[in-house]
Amino acid sequence: MSEEANKKGHPKGLYVLFATEMWERFNYYGMRAILILFMTKALLFDHAFASNLYGSYTGLVYLTPLLGGYIADRYWGNHRSIIAGGLVMAIGEFILFFCGNFYHSAPQLSSILFFSGLGFMIAGNGFFKPNISSMVGQLYKKSDRRIDAAYTIFYMGINVGGALGPFICGLVGDTGNPADFKWAFLAGGIGMLISVVVQQVFHHKYVVDPDNNVLGLTPKTTTAKWINPVNMVIGLLLLSTSTIGLLYIEVKVVNYLSYLLVGSILFIAFVIFSDKTLVYHEKLKVAVIFVVSFFVIFFWSAFEQAGASLTYFADEQTQRDLGFYVVPASWFQSLNSIFVVSLAPLFAWLWVKLGKYEPSSPFKMAMGLFLLAMGYLWIAFGVKNVQPGIKVSMVWLTGMYALHTCGELSLSPIGLSLVNKLAPAKFASLLMAVWFTANAIANKLAGILSALYPENGKTTSFLIYHMSNKYDFFMLFVFMAGIASLILFLISGKLKKMMV
Ligand code: PHE
Repeated sequence: MSEEANKKGHPKGLYVLFATEMWERFNYYGMRAILILFMTKALLFDHAFASNLYGSYTGLVYLTPLLGGYIADRYWGNHRSIIAGGLVMAIGEFILFFCGNFYHSAPQLSSILFFSGLGFMIAGNGFFKPNISSMVGQLYKKSDRRIDAAYTIFYMGINVGGALGPFICGLVGDTGNPADFKWAFLAGGIGMLISVVVQQVFHHKYVVDPDNNVLGLTPKTTTAKWINPVNMVIGLLLLSTSTIGLLYIEVKVVNYLSYLLVGSILFIAFVIFSDKTLVYHEKLKVAVIFVVSFFVIFFWSAFEQAGASLTYFADEQTQRDLGFYVVPASWFQSLNSIFVVSLAPLFAWLWVKLGKYEPSSPFKMAMGLFLLAMGYLWIAFGVKNVQPGIKVSMVWLTGMYALHTCGELSLSPIGLSLVNKLAPAKFASLLMAVWFTANAIANKLAGILSALYPENGKTTSFLIYHMSNKYDFFMLFVFMAGIASLILFLISGKLKKMMV
């Protein structure tokens, strides 16, 4: 191993990527923390409509990275894509800021601004999200032992942003007065600009490979027309207009998104499995990726209730009055990130400590689903036999988020590295796309499920399961994640055999 690889510290570039990602996540999670509250309290959407919109928005947010990753690889390079995507997202936040100014005086205009702001966020995220994390590993030599630690530090950056965003945006925007929501969008936009400035100022100096070559530059094969600023602006505007249209059609005209997402996965499966150059055992590995991607849908669709039904629950049924201060409902969305930052070292230690008893990746993922089910069981107990309108202690949501985070830590990083390990080089990006698309499906499903949140004595149903109170609703996730976990436990031995 080279001298470099034995160094204790990390390259400065890691901290540039850390700060860029942190401020972007600040922007994303800060606005998400108040999004559903803004929709129901300022725009006066009903709960179910707002839930569906939340799912369609977040679903599209995790679909566009497929396009952004593709364009970055072939034409723009990572750095240029991050700057472009970041600016587009900042514009999105500022449009939402204006929307928050006009919702009362000019509802028509504010509705147009709302869809436009979200459309810009969707388009911008596509260029940002896939392009940062792919550079983290490139800061090191392939054999460098610090790479895993680097990803852990980077994941901390995500979550420092994920904790600060809802905190600051909740502080300035979720005040009880709907006219204040706009400040949360403004704060998010400012955070996004800080991210872009950090990236612009420090990237070329510090984000370099071990041989001092700047990472993420424009690919040599790119032709001038692709990076001509006028063409780029026109392209980004066209794309943003399309995402505004895609979101609008999905929520107002016809639900096509679920079919599009599932269809894309099936199409990719067809492309890969019909490839004649892949040998049998490679196809088995790819099959494992598809199977675990299927199971994570059940995880994220329950987990991502955080920005929807669980925020309704925080807002309406959680006792948040401390006597001297009423805790904003949006602050509960910080809890997951706070727990990640505090518990991630424990999990890293645990896997090492278990040594040869360390469970296989599919087994860990089944555990993740189980912990998630336990989180919902905990909160279901908290609301059992509680009359509607009575508020319960913050302990229930807090404990649930702690369990959900333990679930996330045994499923999310494990799944990601599993995909990286198992994917044949030829299909590495495409299989990463499968992983992201599973996330998109889960987010769309999260919105559909959140729309079933029962209120005012109304009963809702999912297939044959009827829900007339919060207990029934939370138990839906206990069953869903619990059954998925059980099946994954049962097949984990078989999957392990397919992986070698
Ligand atoms: N907290 C993670 C993040 O923001 C959630 C996530 C997991 C997003 C997997 C995408 C894919 O990065």
